Amino acid sequence: MVMFKVARVETTPYNDQKPGTSGLRKKVKVFKQPNYLHNFVQSSFNALTTAKVRVLDIKKRRWVVYILISFFFSVLPKVLKSGCGRCNGDGDAVAVAGCKGRSVTVAGPSGPAPVGCCYTKFTCATLVVSGDGRYFSKDAIQIIIKMAAANGVRCIWVGQNGLLSTPAVSAVIRERVGSDGSKASGSFILTASHNPGGPNEDFGIKYNMENGGPAPEGITDKIFENTKTIKEYLIAEDLPDVDISAIGITSFTGPEGQFDVDVFDSASDYVNLMKSIFDFQSIQKLLSSPKFTFCYDALHGVAGAYAKRIFVEELGAQESSLLNCVPKEDFGGGHPDPNLTYAKELVARMGLGKSSCQDEPPEFGAAADGDADRNMVLGKRFFVTPSDSVAIIAANAVQAIPYFSGGLKGVARSMPTSAALDVVAKHLNLKFFEVPTGWKFFGNLMDAGLCSVCGEESFGTGSDHIREKDGIWAVLAWLSIIAYKNKDNLSGNNLVTVEDIVRQHWATYGRHYYTRYDYEVGMICDACAAKELMAYLVKLQSDLTEVNKIVKGIRSDVSNVANADEFEYKDPVDGSISKHQGIRYLFKDGSRLVFRLSGTGSEGATIRLYIEQYEKDSSKIGRDSQDALAPLVEVALKLSKMEEFTGRSAPTVIT
Ligand code: G6P
Ligand code: ZN
Repeated sequence: MVMFKVARVETTPYNDQKPGTSGLRKKVKVFKQPNYLHNFVQSSFNALTTAKVRVLDIKKRRWVVYILISFFFSVLPKVLKSGCGRCNGDGDAVAVAGCKGRSVTVAGPSGPAPVGCCYTKFTCATLVVSGDGRYFSKDAIQIIIKMAAANGVRCIWVGQNGLLSTPAVSAVIRERVGSDGSKASGSFILTASHNPGGPNEDFGIKYNMENGGPAPEGITDKIFENTKTIKEYLIAEDLPDVDISAIGITSFTGPEGQFDVDVFDSASDYVNLMKSIFDFQSIQKLLSSPKFTFCYDALHGVAGAYAKRIFVEELGAQESSLLNCVPKEDFGGGHPDPNLTYAKELVARMGLGKSSCQDEPPEFGAAADGDADRNMVLGKRFFVTPSDSVAIIAANAVQAIPYFSGGLKGVARSMPTSAALDVVAKHLNLKFFEVPTGWKFFGNLMDAGLCSVCGEESFGTGSDHIREKDGIWAVLAWLSIIAYKNKDNLSGNNLVTVEDIVRQHWATYGRHYYTRYDYEVGMICDACAAKELMAYLVKLQSDLTEVNKIVKGIRSDVSNVANADEFEYKDPVDGSISKHQGIRYLFKDGSRLVFRLSGTGSEGATIRLYIEQYEKDSSKIGRDSQDALAPLVEVALKLSKMEEFTGRSAPTVIT
């Protein structure tokens, strides 16, 4: 077995390592600066270990809880989910069950540990490291493996070739059991999601916790704090690079004992999970019907590694139904974001957009982003808005998807997502939650058993089977619904199509016309302009009479603004409060304008403007959405002085 030593390397902090909505995302050249990735990874290790210590401190202060915990001391390791056993006291080293004889040094972050099993290292932990395969991932994986070894991690799991979709990581954390019976306690996910990849584009890293969901703000704040003061990191410099293209376990020996790198098949755990949720047979029947045609575009992201296994091998779709399903480091030079602007080839194939193909479009089309957590669903010449998509899935889940046959625990959407889901929730008498943008907010609800299905306008849909949104899950959910609606009809004349399903939904629940305008403004001054625009909108909110005067001056046919605020959320589970989560103008007739700054870019700023109008009258639900929303759009742009602030006469992307 190869031996390695641990080196302590001096470093100096970078001041720009604050994680955004979904981890740290920067240009590759930023990540390639000396020690840039190392600093972030070590800061994460440090944040995660001290976080565990803090859990104990809090419990110590609350003495009743403390006594109870002491009483049930043998279950404490499970509470902490760290795989660690009971420790003896200050400074003792003890053998830990299930840890192959490695010893745990009992010490808190500043001196001896006060109680139980505090430790400064990731002793015994199993961590997952993988991602969407974008440029720089392979280098980053080797660095993280060496740092993990030096930080006392017991085992690293890597998807073959470093590939794991974000939802698959979540599934692996929750479901996979290692050959020694171990479970993972977290993961570094290497992705910048839907941002382009390549030497001049973006790289990203985020940490997911033992529930399979993104690290909460408390942890990401702590990581950021650590990055500002970091002085050294630990690394096993002499550990040889591991061949991550070959499945198998490679073992090494370090100062604390054995260290393994387990390279495993990227798809199996995820495929098994999908098979336990959906009725694959009924989807297979649909896909084999000559009347049903299908197309899936992975935009050269990691979804390709799953699409072939699931759609072709398991469900019998034609191989020719897969577009761009070979994962590439630069996503083929494209922008791996599944929307009407960037998924050009699929959009054309589906008969939408200007450069439509001549052939008859498929009945169903879908796309994923780089890390396969987002999805776009299309019918023949028909776009399904993500807000409608989650509402339709929620409305049909119990009948069409075996996993939900016992009923839904509740549903949730992010604030800027349209209220289509609210109407379904009301109709079906379901618990309903409106949370800020960002999947982590759903995770808390799911862990507390309050939510089964949730979604966001930003092409994210998912359920409590994992703690991330799930692009392929959404496609399987739609295929299940189509299969269910056609269950007695597959040999009949006309299939119930995607468009039929959406129109039937609107007829039952009313339609939420919806659009989003994105203004991608550049560095420094433009980014300031974005902030100024937001500040202006907040100031304007204090005087509704003035707002209504302006609105009526722009369009007299638009209803009055009844309320205007900045969205604030109190988490019903942990009581935490998230402020400044988007500026809202709420109209009397239920229409909404929402303004927020994107939290996922790597430089500059993106202003997102969300425009929504509810129409209950079934004679008015068939309009083109841009036409229907034109008056509100005009109000939004003039009210916000968009052109004045940004110098832009048109948005970069409309979805
Ligand atoms: C990521 C998160 C989503 C969130 C989205 C918002 O994809 O996982 O939960 O909706 O970012 O992006 P934005 O650019 O609008 O902050
Ligand atoms: Zn993504």
